[in-house]
Amino acid sequence: MRIPVLLASLTVTLAAQSTSAQSTTSPAAAPPLPYQDRAQPVEARVADLLARMTLTEKIGQLTQINVTRLMGQNEWDRGPLSERWLDVVLGEHQVGSLLSGGGSAPVPNTPEAWARMTNDLQRYTLTHSRLKIPLIYGVDAVHGHNNVKGAPLFPHNIGLAATFDVNLTRDINALTARALRATGISWNFAPVADVGRDPRWGRFYETFGEDPTLTAQLVVASVQGLQGEKLGPATVAATLKHFIGYSVPQNGRDRQPAQISRESLQRVHLPPFQAGMKAGAATVMINSGALNGEPAHSSRGLLTELLREELKFPGLAVSDWEDIARLQTVHKTASTYQDAVRQALGAGIDMSMVPNDAPAFTSAVKTLVENGSLPLARVDEAVRRVLALKFELGLFEQPYVDPAAAGSAVTAGQDLALRAARQSMTLLKNDSELLPLKGRRSVVVVGRRAVDPRSQLGGWSIGWQGLPENEDIPAVTVLDGMKQVLPKGTRLTYSEDLSAALPANTDAIVAVVGEAPGAEGEADNPGLTLPQEDVALLRRALGSGRPVVAVLLAGRPLLLPDDVQRGLRALVMAYLPGSEGGRAVADVLYGNTSPSGRLPFTWPKSVSALPMIEGATPGQNAQALYPFGTGLSYTRFQYAGLSVQGAGARQTAQVRVTNSGQVAGGHTVLAFARPASGGTAGGERLLVGFTRVTLKPGETRTVALPLDLTSLRVAAPGQAVQSAELSVGELRTALPTP
Ligand code: NOJ
Repeated sequence: MRIPVLLASLTVTLAAQSTSAQSTTSPAAAPPLPYQDRAQPVEARVADLLARMTLTEKIGQLTQINVTRLMGQNEWDRGPLSERWLDVVLGEHQVGSLLSGGGSAPVPNTPEAWARMTNDLQRYTLTHSRLKIPLIYGVDAVHGHNNVKGAPLFPHNIGLAATFDVNLTRDINALTARALRATGISWNFAPVADVGRDPRWGRFYETFGEDPTLTAQLVVASVQGLQGEKLGPATVAATLKHFIGYSVPQNGRDRQPAQISRESLQRVHLPPFQAGMKAGAATVMINSGALNGEPAHSSRGLLTELLREELKFPGLAVSDWEDIARLQTVHKTASTYQDAVRQALGAGIDMSMVPNDAPAFTSAVKTLVENGSLPLARVDEAVRRVLALKFELGLFEQPYVDPAAAGSAVTAGQDLALRAARQSMTLLKNDSELLPLKGRRSVVVVGRRAVDPRSQLGGWSIGWQGLPENEDIPAVTVLDGMKQVLPKGTRLTYSEDLSAALPANTDAIVAVVGEAPGAEGEADNPGLTLPQEDVALLRRALGSGRPVVAVLLAGRPLLLPDDVQRGLRALVMAYLPGSEGGRAVADVLYGNTSPSGRLPFTWPKSVSALPMIEGATPGQNAQALYPFGTGLSYTRFQYAGLSVQGAGARQTAQVRVTNSGQVAGGHTVLAFARPASGGTAGGERLLVGFTRVTLKPGETRTVALPLDLTSLRVAAPGQAVQSAELSVGELRTALPTP
C-alpha cells in the first residue's frame, strides 16, 4: 500500500496537470470498471466499488483527519505538507476525508494556496489509492468561505436571520459553494440547524435565532444554495448540525447536557432538521453533548431509531470533533477508546472526525470488526454513504481544481455581503428621532471596535476564535464606512476612549461597543454582559451630555446597565455584520438605508428571565426588553385588509402594506398564529409566515404570506387545536383550523 512519492515532484506534476486535466479517465477510452462509468446509477457504482474494497480501504473511508496533522511534525503545525504524515494518513491508513477545522489554513493563506494544497492532497490520495477513490475535503464555511483571506465575510447567521430574507440566504450560500469548490472543497459543515434558545450559549450567533419556522426556512435556503438543484461538480454537500438538542445546554454553556421533552423536540428542535432533510441535505453532524442523560454520539435511539427509522435520513452522519474519544474521556460511557468506537459506530455514526490520530481510530475499527463486536454490515452501510456522496459530487470525474481560477471565485460577493449587512441592521431605540444623523454637523465616533474589524467579524473568521491579532483582511470598519458616506460640510472625529475633550460643537456621539470575537465554549457569556471597558466608555459618552447612539457588535442580546440603557438616545443592533459591516452601519446611521432588520430572538430584561422565548408563556413578553420581531424604521408601514385563503396546514394570508412615511424602505411582514382553544401551549404565539417587501414612500402593495401551520398542530399534543387566530401587526382574523 505504501508508494513513496517525493512531495516536491508531486507538486510539480500537479502544477502541470491541475490546470488542464480535470478528469482521471480519458473521455475517449471506455471506463475499465463499472464503478468508473459515470453513466451507471450511483447505487450501482457504489455496489461495484464496495465489493472490490479491502477492510483497510473501507475503514479509511470512515476516517476524517484535520489537515494540520499532515503539516509539519506536530498536530497543530501549519506549513508545508509533511511526506511522513502523508504516508501514514493517506498511504498506510487510506484516509478518505480531510478537514480544515477553524484556522487550519495553508501558508500563505491565499485562495490559490488553498487550491494547490487540496490538489496536492488529492493527488497524493489518488496515487496511493489502489481503486483511485478521491478524497472529500470539508470546512466550516459558516459565513462565506471564512477561512480564506480575501473572501468576503457575510453577517453571521444571527444577523442574516434578522433580514428574514430567504432568497438572500440562498444566494449567499450559492456564492459560498462556488468559492469552496474553486478551492477544492466539496463539503461544508453548515448550516447550523440548531434553534437558538439560550443567548448565553457561545454558539447562539451561529443559529438563525429562536424561531423554528424562520430557522427551518433559512436552513432550507442554505441547503438549496450550497447543493444547487442536485449535487454535482459545481456544488458542495451541506451539513445539518448538530443533531440534535445541542443548542439548549442546561447551564447555557457549550457542550453541556441538555434536557428536552419529546414535545419540545418535535415542535422546536426537529423541524429545521426535517426541513433541511426534505430539501436534500446530504449530511448531518452529531451533537457533542448529552441529551436527556445520553451522549448523542452513542445514542442508538437518536442516531438510528430517530434519524434513520423515523426521519428516514439517507445521507451521511459525521461525528463532531473528537467526539468519539469523548465518550471515554468526558461522558464516560466507554471505558476504552475501542469501546467508544464500538458505541458510536454501532449507534449509527458513519464517519469519525477523529481528527488527529488516524492509526488509533482505524485500528480500533479493525479489531472490532475482526473480533465480531462491530458487524461488517454496519461498516459497509457507512462506507456506502461515503462513496455515494463522492460519486454524487463528481469527485471521481473531477478531483482537481484550477488554482488560477480560485482567486476570482473566492473574492467575489462583496456587494452581496454589503446588502446582507445593510438588511440585517436592526434599530431598537431611536428617541426623538436622533437617527438618521443627516443633519448633524459634527459627529464623534468612539470605541476601538470602530477601527478594529475583529468584533464585527466574530468567530470563525480566518481564525477559529476570530481574526488573529496579527492578521489583516480587507474589511470596512465602522469608522471607514462613516468616512465613506460622510455628508458634505459635516465633520467626523474619532476618539478611542474619549479621553480628550470633545470638539465644542459635537452634536452626536456614536459609540461602537460589543463583544470580543470568540467561538464555541470560549464565546459563552453567562451574564449576557458587555465588557466593562465598553460599559465605561458608554458612561463617559453619556456623561458628556451629548446625544449618544450605541452601535452594538454582538451575536446575542447583551444587557446594558439600567442607567446606560435609559441614557442612550438610539441603539443599533448590528450583530456580527462581516467584512462590509462598517459600511452597512454607516449607511443606516446617515439614513442612506432605512433600517429593516427585525430581531430574530427575544431580548430579555435580565438573565433571570431566561429561557426567554417569544410568547412562550402568557405574559412573558412583559419580561422582554425587546420582543421577537422588534425593529424600527425611518419610515412607517401600515397594514390593511388581512385575509386568509386555503385550508389545512398550508394556507396563504394576504395583507395590503403601505409605506406611509417619507423615505423608501424594506420591511418584513410577520404573521403569527395563536391557538384560541384546545392545545396545551398556553396561548403561545407562533410565527407561521413572513414576507419581505421594499416600498417607495406612498406605495401600497398587497403581499402574500405563505403560512406553514404544522407547528400549530404539534403545539397541541394529543389534543387538536380547535380554533386559532392569525395576527399581522394589529390586524387579526380567525384562522381556519389546520
Ligand atoms: C467542532 C464544531 O462543533 C463543529 O460545528 C465543526 O463543524 C467542527 N468542529 C469542525 O470544525
